[in-house]
Amino acid sequence: MPTVLITGANRGLGLEFARQYAAAGWRIHAGCRSPSRANDLSAIGKQAAGGLTLHKLDVGSFAEIDALAQTLKREAIDVLVNNAGIGWPPRAPHDDFGKTNYDEWTDVMRINVLAPMRMCEAFVEAVARSDRKVIAMISSKLGSIELATGDLKDHVYRSSKAGLNMVTKLVGEYLKEQRVIPVALGPGWVRTDMGGSTAALSPEESVTGMRRVIAGLKPSDAGAFYSYLGEKLPW
Ligand SMILES: NC(=O)c1ccc[n+]([C@@H]2O[C@H](COP(=O)([O-])OP(=O)(O)OC[C@H]3O[C@@H](n4cnc5c(N)ncnc54)[C@H](OP(=O)(O)O)[C@@H]3O)[C@@H](O)[C@H]2O)c1
Repeated sequence: MPTVLITGANRGLGLEFARQYAAAGWRIHAGCRSPSRANDLSAIGKQAAGGLTLHKLDVGSFAEIDALAQTLKREAIDVLVNNAGIGWPPRAPHDDFGKTNYDEWTDVMRINVLAPMRMCEAFVEAVARSDRKVIAMISSKLGSIELATGDLKDHVYRSSKAGLNMVTKLVGEYLKEQRVIPVALGPGWVRTDMGGSTAALSPEESVTGMRRVIAGLKPSDAGAFYSYLGEKLPW
């Protein structure tokens, strides 16, 4: 039975990943900041044939990341989903030109860029030991410099996802010998707390697509950037 580890699994896309992998019979390790309040996730766990273990994980705390890696050090993690993220409307940081809030920007970079890197470093052995060896970095088209045209704003969030894309590319290089496949995935614009109620896609549509992309990955995809539909996205 394959195993997945998901960060930010208590709501939004992370919760939907947990729901779908649980329905497919996978074993789930679900990270979230407040397990005692993760009622939807617990409900999924009760139905999960492969089992779901909730872990306290604030990815901004590298000590918590390392502690979880220690707890799971004998596991084989087929798919690590670095999903936890912050910084886009409606919780947008203050980033009008001339009014950038640098403390908020630092927080966004820590959660969206540094934490996924730390997750890769902490869990590389567990992923390399698995059959599938995938690390899915939940990125965004807003991190693409080539696609950044028109009425541009959101430099805080965009720069974090551009940074995550570069991290993904380089981790793909670093882990070539282990045949680990890190990929950056653009989920589309999705109806979650972050995406808002007018977004184009349901979490179910987005995650169904991303799971399909993940299932079809080959070692030569390491470091690539794909949309939830499997289209190669420009950097
Ligand atoms: N929705 C979209 O349209 C869209 C588009 C492109 C990319 N994305 C990306 O997709 C990912 C998921 O977004 P979403 O739409 O599901 O957002 P969401 O509904 O706002 O959920 C964000 C998740 O990240 C968790 N999180 C935030 N900070 C965390 C931390 N320090 N440690 C652990 N977990 C933390 C949240 O946990 P708490 O409940 O504890 O806050 C929550 O589970 C993000 O990386 C986002 O940038 C989303």
